[in-house]
Amino acid sequence: MNLLDIRNLSIELVNEKQNILAVDKVSLSMKEGEVRGLVGESGSGKSLLAQAIVGVLDEKWHVHADRFHWRGIDLLRLSIEERKALLSRDIAMIFQEPMACLDPTNTVGEQIAEAIDTNSLSGFFWQKQKQRHEGAIKLLHKVGIKKHSACLNSYPHQLTEALCQRVMIAIALARRPILLIADEPTAAMENTNQSQIFRLLASLNQLKNMSILLISHDLENITHWTNTITVMYSGQFVEAGTTEQIFNKPLHPYTRALVDSSPSANFHLPAKSRLMTLPGSIPILQHLPIGCRLGPRCPRAQQDCVKAPSVTNFHGHKVSCHFPLTPIKSPRKWLKGVC
Ligand SMILES: Nc1ncnc2c1ncn2[C@@H]1O[C@H](COP(=O)(O)OP(=O)(O)OP(=O)(O)O)[C@@H](O)[C@H]1O
Ligand code: SF4
Ligand SMILES: [Mg+2]
Repeated sequence: MNLLDIRNLSIELVNEKQNILAVDKVSLSMKEGEVRGLVGESGSGKSLLAQAIVGVLDEKWHVHADRFHWRGIDLLRLSIEERKALLSRDIAMIFQEPMACLDPTNTVGEQIAEAIDTNSLSGFFWQKQKQRHEGAIKLLHKVGIKKHSACLNSYPHQLTEALCQRVMIAIALARRPILLIADEPTAAMENTNQSQIFRLLASLNQLKNMSILLISHDLENITHWTNTITVMYSGQFVEAGTTEQIFNKPLHPYTRALVDSSPSANFHLPAKSRLMTLPGSIPILQHLPIGCRLGPRCPRAQQDCVKAPSVTNFHGHKVSCHFPLTPIKSPRKWLKGVC
């Protein structure tokens, strides 16, 4: 049974002038213990999709889906309150903009202590308080903050963006979620610190069987840490498969372009060579192309592409394209675990 099973989820921005389909029939599933990457360039709808899953989009966004199951429970049949209660118990999210998501009126220590799972505490009220405080310190150490006293007593605005990101990760882990959605969890960090956080997430996945949806605009950065990857472009589903299928045998022109633009897939090129990129840029929501939204930038586009392509499943490797690529014969090898 899938942990999360979403089919044809659409997110519409509703306003007076026109309704805009920001996310158009995207499907996503996750198994227990899986680490899935969600990749696409900036503006492809990754954060909107993640926020729709945890139910934090405000009323100007309308979310529809053909199927929205969590651990076999049909969420579409639950009331908004029941859905929120269930999902907030089981799913935690590391938001992309930690500074904006932390409470400016409470210290970091109070926020982490409050997030600690009540079921992990025992004894009288004052003993629980002490356990919360000790738990907060442990969590700060886990996410690489050694000087815990200063951090615990600080307000979010007194910390750097990178420290806020670590605090956000600590708060998410405090809840011991079944699924962790990590939206660009290391965006504000330097390379060495990024690896430290990815290693922490990998160990939680292996030791606690925590499933992780790892969101990034950088395909190469997450291939080392994921089992499977879903690719999105401009709010549409592009391709999904195992990390090896996506990186070594991409079937969609967009995924191929993402792979071709990554340095590790081009290690054979002389230094300072230009990497391949698609012409143009992602369309803005007000001017979306009809049919396949990659059309204006796609080297394989033909007349049929003005109709939206449907998803074809090649033994679990899914692609949404009228003219998918044939797998290359001697695929590139990426080095798993080296980062
Ligand atoms: N609050 C909002 N109001 C209006 N448009 C929005 C809002 N939030 C997102 N969008 C638009 O929805 C589209 C998808 O945004 P989203 O933040 O999900 O992209 P993303 O893939 O997460 O990008 P990034 O990699 O930059 O985080 C973009 O075109 C964005 O401009
Ligand atoms: S459907 Fe057409 S435009 Fe879209 S990716 Fe495939 S070939 Fe390119
Ligand atoms: Mg985002």
